[in-house]
Amino acid sequence: MGYIDMHSHILPGMDDGSRNMPQTLRMLEIAVSEGISTMIATPHNMPGKGCPPVSVVHRKVDELRKTVEQEGIPLEIVAGTEYYYREEVLDILEDGDVVTLGESDCVLVEFEPMAERNYIRNAVRNILGTGYRPVIAHVERYAKLMEDISVLSDMRKNGILVQVNAMSVTGDNGRQAKKDVRSLLKKGLVDFVATDAHSDGRRAPFMEKCADVLYKKCGVQYADRLLFGNAEEFLL
Ligand SMILES: [Fe+2]
Repeated sequence: MGYIDMHSHILPGMDDGSRNMPQTLRMLEIAVSEGISTMIATPHNMPGKGCPPVSVVHRKVDELRKTVEQEGIPLEIVAGTEYYYREEVLDILEDGDVVTLGESDCVLVEFEPMAERNYIRNAVRNILGTGYRPVIAHVERYAKLMEDISVLSDMRKNGILVQVNAMSVTGDNGRQAKKDVRSLLKKGLVDFVATDAHSDGRRAPFMEKCADVLYKKCGVQYADRLLFGNAEEFLL
């Protein structure tokens, strides 16, 4: 069983992630060498970065899946999207015009880094009201939320799920991100680690170093859940 990377920008030419198919294939090779066996492609849905229609996301995922098969790359590719939260997202969800994570009712949602705690709390409540389950993307990025993580703890009790970036676990996103993520992990407030890979360079799909940290710091059971168990249970 390999790792499941449930947040990645591997679809070529869709957003600020992979530029083209050759870069995507280099990213996938790295992913395989890092022990990843499933990747959920989560292109941005964000004004300014791209808001691809649902049909386009599925078509691009199908095309990539075919290429992966032809190239003999041992990876499963699954469709998803990373929604930048704004009012319009609620309309999108109410209309059901949405790419969830895999076949699940989970929707990956990001906010602007300085979003207020209350704003995030209201947003996830609104999303739950549409019948979908929000997964907060790279939660360590929201400084105001990190100031009082009891709010996050309450939100998790209401059914939301939480993702952190692998590079924040390892310290490659700076000292503050590492400190915040480690304290979330200690309190068991994280559901998934993912690469949020954007390229085959600095932001490649690196997972192995993060996995080493998790198995050392969190114990086998929790590390397994963070790296593949929860994704298998909730998203696939
Ligand atoms: Fe992302």
